[in-house]
Amino acid sequence: MSDHEYTPKSKVGKWFNDRLPLLTLANHLTDYPTPKNLNYWWTFGGILTFCLITQIITGIILGMHYVAHADLAFQSVEHIMRDVNYGWLIRYVHANGASMFFLAVYIHIFRSLYYGSYKSPREVIWIIGMLIYFLMMATAFMGYVLPWGQMSFWGATVITNLFSAIPLVGDSITTWLWGGYSVDNPTLTRFFSLHYLFPFLILGLVILHIWALHVPGNNNPIGIDIKKPSKDTVPFHPYIVIKDLFALLIFLIIFAFFVFFSPNILGHADNYIEANPLVTPAHIVPEWYLLPFYAILRSVPDKLLGVIAMFAAIFVLVILPWLDTSKVRSTVFRPIYKQFYWFLVADVLILGYVGAMPAEGLYLLIARVATAYYFAHFLIILPFLGMKEKTTPLPLSITEPVLGGSADMAMAKNNSDYKEKL
Ligand code: HEM
Repeated sequence: MSDHEYTPKSKVGKWFNDRLPLLTLANHLTDYPTPKNLNYWWTFGGILTFCLITQIITGIILGMHYVAHADLAFQSVEHIMRDVNYGWLIRYVHANGASMFFLAVYIHIFRSLYYGSYKSPREVIWIIGMLIYFLMMATAFMGYVLPWGQMSFWGATVITNLFSAIPLVGDSITTWLWGGYSVDNPTLTRFFSLHYLFPFLILGLVILHIWALHVPGNNNPIGIDIKKPSKDTVPFHPYIVIKDLFALLIFLIIFAFFVFFSPNILGHADNYIEANPLVTPAHIVPEWYLLPFYAILRSVPDKLLGVIAMFAAIFVLVILPWLDTSKVRSTVFRPIYKQFYWFLVADVLILGYVGAMPAEGLYLLIARVATAYYFAHFLIILPFLGMKEKTTPLPLSITEPVLGGSADMAMAKNNSDYKEKL
């Protein structure tokens, strides 16, 4: 049923809906026609929504017991771990939840890259996604500072110091960010305030992201446009709801493994040592999900150029819909791009690896080559390939490759019989 035909059954429902059409909205969401060939890579949007809500709920509870003061923050986290009922569980879910959130978002982004979901008419969904991703990184970075351990303090010092590379105003900006002349109590309290605020901004952006998605509808694994609703779609409820819930269950098993069996494996042991401005740790490393950008930052010998390269690495993703000149969305029909797609995946993994290693010798060389390749992928390979690549033929509908076009005549007959029945 389409939106405008919908009228609630009960009188009360109709009365309310005429004044605030929430029931029309709910009906739109449940009936939303979804391509019937979506695979499990499309379940990560739902998983991400779950992650965001989990982070907000556990974060609010942690905020009730955490003390944002340089003298008390570290102890207050220990108090949460030892004295607060289930405090250890809430903290481990929140800390590992951040990692799971990034794992899901990377899968979600690489899914979009593989199936060309960022291309017209979905550019705005993609750009809102990039804004979300940027805010996620800022939120995670500030969250890591809050326990006020050694990595918190020194990570914050390294990253905030980057701003001092900006010519003329750099030092003033850094002092302004710190609220003083080094990372200290004012820095901690403002990071806490913003770390609490940003997830709600992300939530607002997620609503816009899904709204923008519902205008053109979902892309799909073969990337062709489809009619909605049609034989190529199924209603969101129950088909996608059940599939998303099943995927979420598997995701939760992996999540639970980290929380209950290896809760500190993704963190750094040094963060269990209280922040000490007089002792610098041997290697200052960010959390795993920021490592590729950290590698790009350090691969450039000049500090300012390194900062520019790091932000440019995100910016090329923002303008990606205009860099990729191919009209064909899905990689399934782009044999050459498919290879380059996997090269990019390998390149980002290599950047992540060298980001965790000392910036010297062979590691530095690899980081430089991988950084150059990263930019070459987006700025040279993609625009060029889109114009030159010979793509394989696209099917006319989602149903066609399954029910039509078979070389086997008996099969073709079955298909045409079946098509008639449909
Ligand atoms: C809090 C983080 C996010 C949430 C909750 C979220 C949620 C969703 C949901 C529910 C969908 C529809 C289902 C699906 O395609 O999986 C979706 C689609 C999409 N998302 Fe996200 N998303 C997030 C972050 C991002 C990011 C960081 C990007 C990329 C930069 C992105 C790009 C896209 C694109 C291009 C689509 C359309 C996919 C298609 O139809 O093929 N999203 N998102």
